[in-house]
Order: sequence, then structure tokens, then C-alpha cells
Amino acid sequence: MNQILPSVFAADLMNLKEECDFLYEKGFKVLHVDMMDGNFVPHIAFGSAQIKSIKKQVKMKLDVHMMVSALEQKISSVLETGAEMISVHYESTPHVRYVIDQIKQHGRKAGVVINPGTDTSLLKPLLNTIDYILIMSINPGRPGQSFIEETIDRIREVKAMVGDRDIQIEVDGGIDEQIAIRCIEAGASMIVIGSYLFTDNKAHLKNLKRLEK
Ligand code: DX5
Ligand code: ZN
Repeated sequence: MNQILPSVFAADLMNLKEECDFLYEKGFKVLHVDMMDGNFVPHIAFGSAQIKSIKKQVKMKLDVHMMVSALEQKISSVLETGAEMISVHYESTPHVRYVIDQIKQHGRKAGVVINPGTDTSLLKPLLNTIDYILIMSINPGRPGQSFIEETIDRIREVKAMVGDRDIQIEVDGGIDEQIAIRCIEAGASMIVIGSYLFTDNKAHLKNLKRLEK
């Protein structure tokens, strides 16, 4: 089944609860939450304390995308938030397997994220331990960017590498309805959408929801 994941980074923060309740009522069951530390990426957004309070307030499951350095020091506070899905950047630590093991030991879904410039074959040693792979389709942490076209081929590569393992492919950044369709055709099943979903008074919601088959 395909899923559209609204990215909270693009929501109206002053009305976050209403936004999330509205999306839940419309059938969106997982919220993508960007954690940014101003170091691994230039912006700062959503630390563990904020994620914990979002988790208490919203009915949706949380998919936390950790764009942070020194992952090993931050993973336990993210686990404490109760988030059901946590993804970590391959590039952010030499100890990515160690962090993934911690996520799994806590019974959460573990994802590994790769930047647009990272070779997809580097994921091979992790295939037997992860639940999902997040392929960035923009450079992380910088809002308002356009979808990087090569992502479609990268989704195909990863899909072939995954084979019949139970691993979902997620894509994040610069995605609209037409691009989402192409990502799904290439093999992705979790599509993160920020600005396209929240702009124009959420006019695209209905069409996006139809992609979830
Ligand atoms: C960017 C974030 C994305 C972002 C997507 O670093 O990881 O989740 O919110 O937003 P759009 O869809 O607007 O590119
Ligand atoms: Zn993200």
C-alpha cells in the first residue's frame, strides 16, 4: 500500500493540533517530522521536547527524520518521544548500524536516509536490519527546493537492490502530485509532501489521498 506522509515542517505551527486533527480525519495516518540541528543541516527545527509534545497531542503515528550530527548522543531522547518510526542519515555518523540497532531494540521501525549525493550501493550491508529507506530528493534541511530528477533512477536502483525483502522506500523533498505518481511507479511506497500539501488551503489533499492504493 502506498502512503502519503504530510511533512509537519510545512504546516501552520500556530495551529498544529488543528492541522493534524484535520489531516487525520482525512485519512492521513502518519506525520513526517523533521528534526534539524543547525549543524548537519543549516536550519534548526523540532528537538525531542517538541516532538514529545506533538506525539501527546496528535492521533497520527510519527515518522521522525533525524537530520542531526552526533546521532549517538541524541537517539535515546528521540526514542523517549514515543515516535513509531525513526530514520537516520547514513552520512551523519560512522556508527549508523549501532543507532539502527538501538531503534530496533526499542521495537520501532528503523529507516536509513541517503542524501542525493550518496551512492545507493552503500545501503547493502544494512538491508537485513532496516524497515525502510528514505531517499532524499532534495538536499536536506533547505526548504523550497525543486525535486532532483535523478531520484527516479535511484528509487529504481534501490527497489532492485531490496528485492523481495520487506523494506519500504520513502522519498522526501520537492514532491507534487505528478512527481509522486512517478516515484510510486519507480518503486516508492511512502511519499513525504510538505509545501505542495499545505499550500492553497490544502486544495490538493483529495488528489493526493487517491494515490494511496
Ligand atoms: C527537508 C525535509 C522535508 C521537507 C519537505 O529537509 O526533510 O521533509 O519538509 O518539504 P517539501 O515537500 O516542501 O520539499
Ligand atoms: Zn524530511
